[in-house]
Amino acid sequence: MSDLKKHTISHVAIIMDGNGRWAKQRSHPRVWGHVRGSTVVSKIVEAAKESGIGALTMYAFSSENWCRPQSEVRILFKLLYKFLLRERERILKNNIRFRIMGDVSNLPEQTKILIAQLEKESQFNSGLKLTFAFGYGSRSEITQAFNQFIKKNPGKELLEEDLAKYLMVPDLGEVDLLIRTGGEFRISNFLLWQIAYAELFFTETKWPDFSSSEFKEILENVSKRERRFGSTTADQDLKSNIDQARYNKSITRG
Ligand code: IPE
Ligand code: IPE
Ligand code: MG
Repeated sequence: MSDLKKHTISHVAIIMDGNGRWAKQRSHPRVWGHVRGSTVVSKIVEAAKESGIGALTMYAFSSENWCRPQSEVRILFKLLYKFLLRERERILKNNIRFRIMGDVSNLPEQTKILIAQLEKESQFNSGLKLTFAFGYGSRSEITQAFNQFIKKNPGKELLEEDLAKYLMVPDLGEVDLLIRTGGEFRISNFLLWQIAYAELFFTETKWPDFSSSEFKEILENVSKRERRFGSTTADQDLKSNIDQARYNKSITRG
């Protein structure tokens, strides 16, 4: 059994940060960094597939990124469009399930069509679950989930497992490892619910310089960490610990 399997790193999420600074250091406009950064996305998807992880969720555009200059936002849209055109075949050939999480209603019509097509074409693929967070904000995701729940279940108490079912991509589950490139130590409204017990890894490497080998090194490195999920030993997983904690609490209460 590989280290990865043993330590159950199945879902990796990445905050792809540092494009603008990367370009600035080279006296180029910020968008140059986004262009270079988009080529790295393809390499990391490939590396994720090779590593055998189950899911890769990539933060490409946050709901707060709407406040950037229009010209930059337009380039980011264009890069998403080009990525979809370029990678469609490879995604399908490699049995990858592609999805977008976030509000894409303001994207150009052509891009929305490509997204819908690829999500549909790849919906039964059983390999890597590849999700792009685009126009995504975690607080908004949680609030929407909460509101949908109350609408469908008036008067019922909301439980943790109920909320998880109403998230944008419910089957993605917990994040095991969150990587942020670009040297900042923050979460920036990404997957706040899903990272409750994620391992965190912050690298100084700016996204356009991030590589498959660094990605694999991080996986190796983190797979050696002991994850305890609130317990005293590393033998359990989050789900069984939650159940155990609930049970112990109920019998202690008497
Ligand atoms: C990440 O790089 C890409 C997006 C947020 C869309 P940035 O554009 O934030 O680059 P820095 O952090 O300014 O260097
Ligand atoms: C987070 O990066 C969003 C993405 C990588 C898409 P930001 O650059 O927007 O985050 P802040 O502003 O540094 O928190
Ligand atoms: Mg940034």
